[in-house]
Amino acid sequence: MAVTHAPRTRSDALPLRTYRTQGRPAAIAGIGVHVPERVLTNRDLERMVDTSDQWIVERTGIRERRIAEPGTPTFVLATEAARRALEVSETDATEVDLILVATSSPDGPFPSVACRVQEQLGVAGCMAMDILAACSGFAYALSLADSYVASGRADTVLVIGAEVLSRMVDWSDRGTCVLFADGAGAAVVRPARRGAGFMSWCLGADGRGHDQITYGDIERGAYAAADPDPHIGMKGPDVFKFATDIFIRQAYAVAETAGLTMDDIDLWVPHQANSRIIEAAARRIGLPMERVMVNIDRYGNTSTATIPLAMHDALEQGRLRHGDRVLIAGFGSGLTWAACLLEWE
Ligand code: ACO
Repeated sequence: MAVTHAPRTRSDALPLRTYRTQGRPAAIAGIGVHVPERVLTNRDLERMVDTSDQWIVERTGIRERRIAEPGTPTFVLATEAARRALEVSETDATEVDLILVATSSPDGPFPSVACRVQEQLGVAGCMAMDILAACSGFAYALSLADSYVASGRADTVLVIGAEVLSRMVDWSDRGTCVLFADGAGAAVVRPARRGAGFMSWCLGADGRGHDQITYGDIERGAYAAADPDPHIGMKGPDVFKFATDIFIRQAYAVAETAGLTMDDIDLWVPHQANSRIIEAAARRIGLPMERVMVNIDRYGNTSTATIPLAMHDALEQGRLRHGDRVLIAGFGSGLTWAACLLEWE
């Protein structure tokens, strides 16, 4: 099959590492989501900081987002999403061999959110751990789930992306507080039953960019610095350029590794950080927006939860059907990136 080569990108770009899946094919058997009830609109933000609905919509695509009640732990949102994913995939919680929670807002360094989810589900015994790769975390965790199922170490993996970012945001900083929000999504990964599943992966990190998206003192680390009020900081325009670049390069990398072209991709489900990043990358990749899933207008940037939230909405809208080739792609603090091509079960 012909491979269309990626357009020229930034000159300092690192070579990307990709691999084709091997072993027992694994697939997503079901997606579940949970978002807090409280809706925070751009109009509400106008009353909190010097911003406007027009600026936020034009520069980010966000219209509203969900914010958890103060004191809500991440594990509560994670557990709700997990329960729904188990339900829709007709999986009994006792079948779960591994729980992976990707989160940028864990409730603390330990115990892990995954262990709390396990306890809530009442399935003591299986392996459970958190993954920290910022907004790339859900795709990183999916890749681990694929590896465990492919190698036969697990038959059923629960992959969760869950965030309460609202407690990490400086609500007086208009540059960040309009972007981030709360929510959770989960996927059940199992051996593929209908011949579909994960096909190729592209995963990586560039720690030289560790200061681009941060939380608290980055030299000593937020805990060591004992900062009483750490918050999310970001070099917005730099992240914008990195994100657009890595979206384009990852798309070509996973397609080429799977032996496919952009024409073969039915739906791109990108991390929802800014609709302008998604649109700029889609243009360069050559994907019309009818084949791109965007729901940032309703949820904002929920870090690890954006991809499962977007997949869930795509399913609800009938945009994700058996046999569809789906490109998932994320990027985040670290800097990190992760993408995969899969065929929908
Ligand atoms: N309302 C009104 N004006 C604003 C706001 C706001 N909410 N925020 C910034 N501005 C102003 C700035 O102060 C600036 O004003 P000035 O020209 O007078 O100095 C002007 O708007 C332009 O600011 P920029 O930062 O250049 O605006 P830009 O168009 O780049 O948009 C944004 C900023 C939305 C943050 C964009 O850069 C972006 O989305 N970057 C990527 C963010 C991202 O992807 N983050 C991922 C995080 S993932 C993770 O791992 C947690």
